[in-house]
Amino acid sequence: MSQICELADLQRLYHKRVPKMFQGYCESGSWTQQTLGLNKSDFQRILFRQRVARDLEPRSLASQMVGQDVKMPVAIAPVGLLGMQHADGEILAAQAAEEFGIPFTLSTMSICSIEAVAKKTQKPFWFQLYVQKDREFTKKLIERAKAAGCSALVVTLDLQMIGRRHADHRNGMTAPPRLTLPNIIDIARRPKWALGMANTRNKAFGNIQGCATGVDDMSDLMKWTAGSFDTKLNWEDIRFFRELWQGPLIIKGIMEVEDAKECVKLGADAIVVSNHGGRQLDGARSSISTLPEIVAEVENQIEVWLDSGIRSGQDIIRAKALGAKGVMVGRPMVYGLGAMGKAGVTKMLEIFHQEAELTMAFIGHRDIANVSRKDIVFQEETFKN
Ligand code: FNR
Repeated sequence: MSQICELADLQRLYHKRVPKMFQGYCESGSWTQQTLGLNKSDFQRILFRQRVARDLEPRSLASQMVGQDVKMPVAIAPVGLLGMQHADGEILAAQAAEEFGIPFTLSTMSICSIEAVAKKTQKPFWFQLYVQKDREFTKKLIERAKAAGCSALVVTLDLQMIGRRHADHRNGMTAPPRLTLPNIIDIARRPKWALGMANTRNKAFGNIQGCATGVDDMSDLMKWTAGSFDTKLNWEDIRFFRELWQGPLIIKGIMEVEDAKECVKLGADAIVVSNHGGRQLDGARSSISTLPEIVAEVENQIEVWLDSGIRSGQDIIRAKALGAKGVMVGRPMVYGLGAMGKAGVTKMLEIFHQEAELTMAFIGHRDIANVSRKDIVFQEETFKN
């Protein structure tokens, strides 16, 4: 543990401990992976302005996200099939997040069910919704999230169609036997692959949680997903969910100003500027390069957050400087989880917190709320004057 200083150390350990196929599922982007690359490289173009001789005591990253107090403005992004990366993955990541003091978002596509995560955690977590064609079923998911005490609903809009990820295709991405997705399995209408659920753990893969049974082949799951997710979704439908869910509503997957304005109109509380970690539309701009224009238009009407490409505490400060009120992290959490379970997620959060706090101090601030556009310069501008 003492050897782990940065996210890359956790990532190395992750590569040793998690089966290749699941690494591919986590790390790959769609098609040529151009957007996946831009998400990271564009952060490197943002340079800090160092300040000196400032009173740097006391320092705090404490913030609020949709009214919730957070130790730093970071939430765990919804990541599907976390139980593939580590047994009980969703539960462990949720526990690490709540103990650290930031929100955890449970994916619709999780292996542990909403109820199972609620049972093993003390504080409310957030639930992420993929809208299904079957509205009754979608409503039922929301009802379950309410009953489990979830404190915010994250509706992801950028996965009406599934981006093609070549790594998954090449790897065969054959899910282990006894893998299933209790959030989406309606007992009465189980898809073929979900028949015969059993709460057993698959020992063959070691790291794998097998809450139930049925998904023998990932292509079955992909087919099911493609057939069930709503390809006709429109803003009127989202309005319907706004009415159903009275708590904080977060819309994820926004990359254009016009779409951000729609979210404001329907009364959402926050948007996540996100290209799904480069897993959907390849050739799209990076989230961080898109952020400033969206912030400029809607900042005072809705909370604007960002995900896709955050790999350090410095990136949190960069996003903050460009106007993000908060960020979400996906793969960094998976690296921690696959590497060391709950302790790995905690380690990742500690590293990000230390890096963000130190960077904030170097640019002359004690409170993250004061970080602004004035604290950074784009690499292209460095030699201008
Ligand atoms: C995701 N993401 C995602 N988003 C979502 O709304 N529901 C989901 O089930 C998933 N599943 C998922 C699986 C995996 C393996 C990854 C890597 C990502 C997208 C996720 O919430 C987030 O937008 C990205 O992960 C952010 O990019 P970074 O932090 O991974 O660069």
